Amino acid sequence: MTSLDFSKKSLIFITGASRGIGRALAIEMSQSIHPQSALVLIASSASALEETKSLVLQVESTLNVVTYPIDLSEPSDDVYEKLFDEVIKKVDVSNLDYSIFIHNAGTIGCLKKTVDLNDVELWRKYYDLNLISAISLNSKFISKTKGLAKKLFIVNITSLCGRVPFVNMSMYGSCKAARELFFKVLAVEESNLTILNYSPGPVATDMFETIIETAEDDGLRKSFKETKKTDILTPQKTVKMLLDILKKGIFESGQTIDYFDLVKST
Ligand SMILES: NC(=O)c1ccc[n+]([C@@H]2O[C@H](COP(=O)([O-])OP(=O)(O)OC[C@H]3O[C@@H](n4cnc5c(N)ncnc54)[C@H](OP(=O)(O)O)[C@@H]3O)[C@@H](O)[C@H]2O)c1
Repeated sequence: MTSLDFSKKSLIFITGASRGIGRALAIEMSQSIHPQSALVLIASSASALEETKSLVLQVESTLNVVTYPIDLSEPSDDVYEKLFDEVIKKVDVSNLDYSIFIHNAGTIGCLKKTVDLNDVELWRKYYDLNLISAISLNSKFISKTKGLAKKLFIVNITSLCGRVPFVNMSMYGSCKAARELFFKVLAVEESNLTILNYSPGPVATDMFETIIETAEDDGLRKSFKETKKTDILTPQKTVKMLLDILKKGIFESGQTIDYFDLVKST
């Protein structure tokens, strides 16, 4: 059973909740989750997280919303362990039905030809933020919350660019591919976890603008500019699709679903 009943009490962690898809997720989820649920909003900008928190509380004032400003580019087992310990002390974790982690934080990295991406430090930093921090947070999430809730859900926000080779995107794409496979392996190993890899489609966020502004390749910039005029989604639209997939449970644990897979089939 992979469906998630949002009317049940949950403890929900969202990384990258300060803007873009992560902020939309926090706001959209707050419309349907159990009013005594807790939302833990994680990103590096404290002020932007506070803005997300106030938008969430405008939707449902009874929710317990905790902001946790942290730079995920320096993953640390100790720091992440402290994060969960502090959150669990702060919020009401009694009678939880679900504990949910949404791995959404991400950066686009350096958009250059692969042969010119030869700075080891740059690669290491990129992978620290976009892969290792998610792996480490995930491990703490499981060990710290499995005894608190009846069921654990994990959502990994992935990308088509991790499955199809796009020019200039070896850094972004290879890391998304690694992260997606990590969660697929976890899903086959741990049948008690429910894991979804969700690919949100092209979404109007800062990340999309960064591709248009910084990609070295003219063709890539042009095709993203074109998509911006034609197929781009709002963060709300793709998030509604994700929440619908979770509510209906129309996936096998570990599966990857792209926004357009379901648009095509409906
Ligand atoms: N937009 C698209 O078209 C698209 C398509 C496919 C997949 N995605 C994926 O969707 C996810 C969200 O992307 P988005 O488009 O919403 O991007 P965005 O608007 O650029 O937001 C990125 C989020 O990640 C957080 N983040 C970045 N660096 C961080 C750091 N060092 N420490 C902590 N948090 C950090 C940011 O928070 P702070 O700035 O406060 O740190 C922000 O909340 C990403 O995983 C992305 O790869 C996006």
